[in-house]
Amino acid sequence: DASVDNLAKEFKDLPALDKYPNCFPDINPVDIYRSHITSILTKITGVDSKIVYPALQWTATLDKGDIVLPIPALRIKGKPDALGSEWVSKWPGSTLVETPVLNGAFLSFFFKAGPLTQTTIPLALKHRKDFGTNKAVGLRDQSDPSKGQKRIIVEFSSPNIAKPFHAGHLRSTIIGGFLANLYEASGWDVVRINYLGDWGKQYGLLALGYEKYGNEEDLTKDPINHLFQVYVKINVDIKDEQDKAEKLESEGKPEEAQKIRDEGLDEQARRYFKLMTENDEKAIAMWKRFRDLSITRYKQTYARLNIHFDDYSGESQVAEADMEEAANKMREMGLTEEDKGAQLIDFSKHVTGKQGKSLGKVILRKKDGTALYLTRDISELLNREKKYKFDHMIYVIASQQDLHCQQFFKVVELMGYKDIAAKVQHINFGMVLGMSTRKGTVKFLDDILRDVGEHMHSVMRKNEDKYNQVENPDQVADTLGISSVMVQDMSGKRGNNYTFDINTMTSFEGDTGPYLQYAHARLSSITRKAGLSEEQIATADLTLLTETHAINLVRVLAQWPDVVSNTLRTLEPTTILTYLFKMTHTLSSSYDVLRVVGSEHEVMRARMALYDAARVVLNNGMRLLGLSPVDRM
Ligand code: ARG
Repeated sequence: DASVDNLAKEFKDLPALDKYPNCFPDINPVDIYRSHITSILTKITGVDSKIVYPALQWTATLDKGDIVLPIPALRIKGKPDALGSEWVSKWPGSTLVETPVLNGAFLSFFFKAGPLTQTTIPLALKHRKDFGTNKAVGLRDQSDPSKGQKRIIVEFSSPNIAKPFHAGHLRSTIIGGFLANLYEASGWDVVRINYLGDWGKQYGLLALGYEKYGNEEDLTKDPINHLFQVYVKINVDIKDEQDKAEKLESEGKPEEAQKIRDEGLDEQARRYFKLMTENDEKAIAMWKRFRDLSITRYKQTYARLNIHFDDYSGESQVAEADMEEAANKMREMGLTEEDKGAQLIDFSKHVTGKQGKSLGKVILRKKDGTALYLTRDISELLNREKKYKFDHMIYVIASQQDLHCQQFFKVVELMGYKDIAAKVQHINFGMVLGMSTRKGTVKFLDDILRDVGEHMHSVMRKNEDKYNQVENPDQVADTLGISSVMVQDMSGKRGNNYTFDINTMTSFEGDTGPYLQYAHARLSSITRKAGLSEEQIATADLTLLTETHAINLVRVLAQWPDVVSNTLRTLEPTTILTYLFKMTHTLSSSYDVLRVVGSEHEVMRARMALYDAARVVLNNGMRLLGLSPVDRM
């Protein structure tokens, strides 16, 4: 327990800490206080520590204290304020915490500044990149360390080849990347899966389109755009054919209409896809090439967002035989019924009440035996269970597919895989409104990033002096652009819709990506200017940090590990962002008071240690969100 040892050295009368479940004083400063306050409260209230410990809560703002106890949460008889004043009068005094303040039905606890500073700053500077995560001590599952490391699959992004990368994919990518980082920071073994839309009749059509409109050069140069263009063109052709057939029919020429239907593009696409499903060498080679080239290109874009995948799965990866087996099982169990040759499940017959009604009916296999989106999801899940033996799996998919996910998980449960159904989770999110730019509606992730990057570049140019000092303005503009998009996306709660607004997101004012980046660059600049060695910072005399601004900053920094573990409960990126903005606001209000350069040397060292700890927290927070912190801008 480095931090506790450190404290014990500095404060000789430090009481021994009692142990509580999920309490990690060696990596989380606030846990020291939780443990300590619980022990005292248990004694003076007579309430069991199992009730006291979880009753201690965060405060919204520092003026409410560092921790607050809602007195009714201890569930004992008596008026809260009367109980509160009795306990205040019995408070024994402590090295770590001030005498609590009674505020109506709440007891507010303020941490004593000295010990808090002595714990928080050394802890942040020691663990650095791992501060706030439980990797620092190799903790695995917090609830039961004996179980070893748990494995989670995060499935996210999942675009469709040859189709636009729409806002839903953008949000899935940003939120999924973040969740994967979060679980990793919490000690989980994370498997990142991209489940591509890469199978179905439309990929037969794409192959036909390529024969007609495609060319090798454009395909290798820019596969994603090229395949999309080909796909658009061939879809125009198919629409023309259908219109023609309808017209012929209305003109009373059904035979000619039928001829188009029998030999036209749609039928050819169906046949081509059939070849693919039969593993026809040529057809598969072509399709695989489209897929591989697209993946290579996607990877480059994902890298700009600090995202990688362990597995590019996809609808194509689910074997027909597996789906047939699943379908047979469902039929034998009496779950599915036949309807005009198709197999469907009517949930109202298997799930009672309202839920059964709202789940409705869904087709699992078409008349011609082709499996559907849902059927693929079911078999893919069963395969993942075998392949990865995961403890939990998250699907990051837009709210538009809420019903799909409910039906999906329900079928799995009804098939008898209750344990599997219990460990899958749909993380949904709202829509992005008005995602268009100067150049029209955005189609691909690259277009979005390029456009925002260019916009950011023009914003940077407005400050000529600063602009000239930036070494690689293109790259910085690109990074700032990406941060703008990501921060705007993660600012609200996941479930909310938001409006894509390039002017707001790229502003340096307000709670934006560029604001966070600026805060980070400023800390880096202070560090450069101070020019102190690591040793000089690590051995600074922290008792010199006495100003209210310094103490408040330390109080906010101390909350960081708690914020991370709380985020594992909310699974909301905004939990992290809200905190980072609170921290950077506290930070920026302190610069005028807590100057580094120009201060007396010992004071300079102490303040530098404080700012260094702030930079560690900001850097860790930004990376957890998937941002790349810049050192200059
Ligand atoms: N490719 C799908 C789409 O664009 C998203 C896939 C989501 N994941 C899943 N397992 N169904 O709508």
